[in-house]
Amino acid sequence: MEAKNPKDSLTVLTDLVLPGDTNYLDNLFGGELLARMDRACSIAARRHSSRIVVTASVNHVAFNKSTPVGSVVTIEAKVSRAFKTSMEIYVDVWIEDRQSGQRTKVNEGIYTFVAVDETGKPVEIAQIIPETTLEKERFDGALRRKQLSLILAGKMNPADATELKALFS
Ligand SMILES: CC(C)(COP(=O)(O)OP(=O)(O)OC[C@H]1O[C@@H](n2cnc3c(N)ncnc32)[C@H](O)[C@@H]1OP(=O)(O)O)[C@@H](O)C(=O)NCCC(=O)NCCS
Repeated sequence: MEAKNPKDSLTVLTDLVLPGDTNYLDNLFGGELLARMDRACSIAARRHSSRIVVTASVNHVAFNKSTPVGSVVTIEAKVSRAFKTSMEIYVDVWIEDRQSGQRTKVNEGIYTFVAVDETGKPVEIAQIIPETTLEKERFDGALRRKQLSLILAGKMNPADATELKALFS
């Protein structure tokens, strides 16, 4: 299987925040944003693997700034690393100023997707070759984050988490 670059999976979703998408403070409701991020990550994972994909884990989400009603929200997702059947996807969320068009980053997340066949069985995927400095940084940290996610899910013994242990040695 031929390796791909992160840019091959780049997915950009731009949409409005309407009143029905908000919380009591008239800001974008967190669950609505998570759903939009999940959708963008799902498309990025599908573009990388050319397979059916399912969310295995939401590894990290930071709601750094609120997103007011009326905002134009742009969600950018890209596969940062591919393992055997699973992929880490980084997702960045931006809003833009109406007059200047200047973008502000409001949120970011890290998701894990798994490529599966029609019966839901995990299948092998293409590897990834990072190109930019940021892509290389995200690629390098991905195994550490995978091990942490597996430990939190009760699927890995902490004693086997070589990458995490290396942080403290
Ligand atoms: C995700 C799923 C396919 C994994 O199946 P499984 O039988 O546990 O398969 P495996 O143990 O071989 O795991 C498959 C891959 O996922 C990774 N994985 C599984 N759980 C993970 C987690 N919590 N965090 C990070 N990676 C995880 C494994 O490490 C493995 O990676 P690799 O093959 O790249 O090394 C299965 O649990 C599932 O179908 N879950 C439901 C998915 C779903 O409904 N999502 C929401 C709607 S899309």
